[in-house]
Amino acid sequence: MDMQSYFGVSTPSPLLSSSSTSVTTPDTDYSDDRISVNTVVEDASYIFVIGGLGYIGSHTVLALVNEGYNVVVVDDLSNSFSTVFDRIKLLAAEYCRANCRDLPLLRFYHLDYRSSSMRALLWHYRARTISDLTTLAGCRSMVAGVIHFAALKSVSESLEKPLAYYQNNVGGLVDFLSTLQEFGIKRFVFSSSATVYGSLANHGVPLREQHCVHQTETYLDALGRERVAESGVRGLTSPYGRTKWMCEAILADVATADPSWQIAALRYFNPVGCHESGLLGEDPRQIPTNLFPVIIRVLAGAQPACNGAETVLDGADPVLNIFGTDWGTSDGTAVRDFIHVADLARGHVAALAALIRGTIEQPFRTFNLGTGQGHTVREVVDSMEKASLRQIPVRNAERRKGDVGSCVAEVQRARQELGWSAEKTLGECASTAWAFVINSEKAQPLD
Ligand code: UD1
Repeated sequence: MDMQSYFGVSTPSPLLSSSSTSVTTPDTDYSDDRISVNTVVEDASYIFVIGGLGYIGSHTVLALVNEGYNVVVVDDLSNSFSTVFDRIKLLAAEYCRANCRDLPLLRFYHLDYRSSSMRALLWHYRARTISDLTTLAGCRSMVAGVIHFAALKSVSESLEKPLAYYQNNVGGLVDFLSTLQEFGIKRFVFSSSATVYGSLANHGVPLREQHCVHQTETYLDALGRERVAESGVRGLTSPYGRTKWMCEAILADVATADPSWQIAALRYFNPVGCHESGLLGEDPRQIPTNLFPVIIRVLAGAQPACNGAETVLDGADPVLNIFGTDWGTSDGTAVRDFIHVADLARGHVAALAALIRGTIEQPFRTFNLGTGQGHTVREVVDSMEKASLRQIPVRNAERRKGDVGSCVAEVQRARQELGWSAEKTLGECASTAWAFVINSEKAQPLD
């Protein structure tokens, strides 16, 4: 389907690059003095994607470019690989060729968004049409929006290194917002998480945005009764989770103080799957702890295939621990709302488009990005066995500390206000995740 019509963008936005036909060479190993002003096309607008080469970021960058946005990727490669950028370029070029579209501008700067280089970069993307550029006050920018993915995201690591998490995720955001404000950039999409619902997820009901708010809100419940939601949440179980909640609270405060900000915080449920090409996927530098990547490591190990063949990879896990088989669910294993990463990526484009259109009334708004449907851990195991035609050896284990039994999104708000909903099934999540494994085995390593 044409993404433009899917998102309800009927006329080309000023952001869409109609004249650019080339993709610039990645500016890797970026430093202040190497920014070339010549790389900035002065009559264009850009979306900055911070942390744009990671798992969700890379799929979002591709979705943005396919939709016609000029994109500047900033990534410090701490948990990603520069070759991901080449793959995005390749896929974008293929998509644009197949759809007879010009290729928007796409650039990559290898830098830490918290470094002073970020300010220098934003300076180069300031609007040049303003006569008085001697001060930053009132300076407009060619950056029409920022999508911020760059954050540490391991629950277990955050328990060991809480300060690193608060420093990077919270401190980094505060400084970054201040810088953006100086440059007059106030359109911001934030990567949040369903983890902000804390122990509310234990209640077994679909989670609504109103279950976690940062200012008192009145809303109608499922039966049409008026309810008051107070700010705050209970039962956050990790520093990682607290950073996400704090960041949302900070963003809400910033937007209250200055309603000219336009901020969308996207609460991801469980992102899984990969791009259908098998070229983009989840390939972190760190050892994974999330269910899908762990299953893939097990599958990559010495597991007998259903057809009798056998593959052995060094260092792979021999068995999947199923954490908790006594939850009050259909088969006793935990339920999650698994959302395909391509759907999630489209959700970011939809949120950005809504901010640009100005159709979101509040200066700060949260959105659940999930499917609205839960699947158990065992159902995931079954779907991965089906996709890979291999058996996954499992061991029943104790509940993992901090886990909840069921975490499923209520998805009405995103549907109504963003015109977005997830489309892909768990089977598609499994088959594309497996395609990435197969492709990675055939291809050169990413780095
Ligand atoms: C986890 C984080 C959440 C974060 C999200 C990002 C915790 C407690 N929560 O969510 O804050 O936003 O990742 O994707 O870590 N499972 C197994 N065996 C495994 C791995 C997982 O049985 O080897 C189970 C888990 O116990 C859980 C389910 O699979 O019941 C999903 O786990 P996971 O993929 O780690 O995601 P969440 O815990 O939902």
